[in-house]
Amino acid sequence: MKIALIGYGKMGKTIEEVAISKGHIISCRLDSSDFDPSELANSDVAIEFTQPDAAVSNILKCYEANVPIIVGTTGWYDKYEVLSKKAREENKALFTATNFSIGVNILFHLNEKLAGIMNNFSEYKVHMDETHHLQKKDHPSGTAVTLAEGIINSLNRKKKYIGLLDGQEAEISAFDLQIISKRQPDIPGYHKVTYESEIDEITISHNAKNRQGFAQGAVLAAEWIKGKTGVFGMNDLLNF
Ligand SMILES: NC(=O)c1ccc[n+]([C@@H]2O[C@H](COP(=O)([O-])OP(=O)(O)OC[C@H]3O[C@@H](n4cnc5c(N)ncnc54)[C@H](O)[C@@H]3O)[C@@H](O)[C@H]2O)c1
Repeated sequence: MKIALIGYGKMGKTIEEVAISKGHIISCRLDSSDFDPSELANSDVAIEFTQPDAAVSNILKCYEANVPIIVGTTGWYDKYEVLSKKAREENKALFTATNFSIGVNILFHLNEKLAGIMNNFSEYKVHMDETHHLQKKDHPSGTAVTLAEGIINSLNRKKKYIGLLDGQEAEISAFDLQIISKRQPDIPGYHKVTYESEIDEITISHNAKNRQGFAQGAVLAAEWIKGKTGVFGMNDLLNF
């Protein structure tokens, strides 16, 4: 398959390694906003890992070039509904995931299950932590937001999440789910959900040892989307 890489930073380079090891060809590497949709003409699929303010325009360029797009960039989801609607109406292909790692997607399922169980155990207070490298632009991470949404959907006593950078203070009500974001050197991604009572603590977490898991998932999605139109995510790919 001929894969266009939109964004050739830490993730773009890791995806290139994984794609080549699986016999794919990198048709182009587009690493700034000034590329034209015509540069995608020779590609079967595009994989986009750039930055929050770039994703929307890159998705629209792929629609214009009629090339399916796999989007790993997080922090642009306020435009998700508009772009999904456009994909459906105009027969384009959009695949997004806040986290392409299989392990994290297993954690997403455990998280929802555990949150549902906790409806019967009000003595447990829940909170979340995430840690990423210093260059990460958005907080809380897209993955943390997905985990928080999973808890809010399944646990009746939480209504919304509040994201804080480590050390930041805010008024937190009993209905709020607190997410603390830490930024430290060289951390690809760590997420933890904690349920704490007076007598014990239950935690579920995922620690990415490197970026390979994200890259493998993104390439898998690129292989899977061939020939499809519509809007997809990891649940479609993994069949959970
Ligand atoms: N969904 C996931 O599984 C997952 C995993 C890891 C990272 N991410 C997200 O992916 C994004 C990229 O992560 P990274 O670690 O590779 O970042 P990075 O900063 O190392 O690389 C981003 C690259 O995008 C390029 N870029 C910026 N604007 C562009 C544009 N308009 N068009 C094309 N290229 C452009 C930059 O020059 C840079 O090389 C971030 O939003 C990060 O949070 C998602």
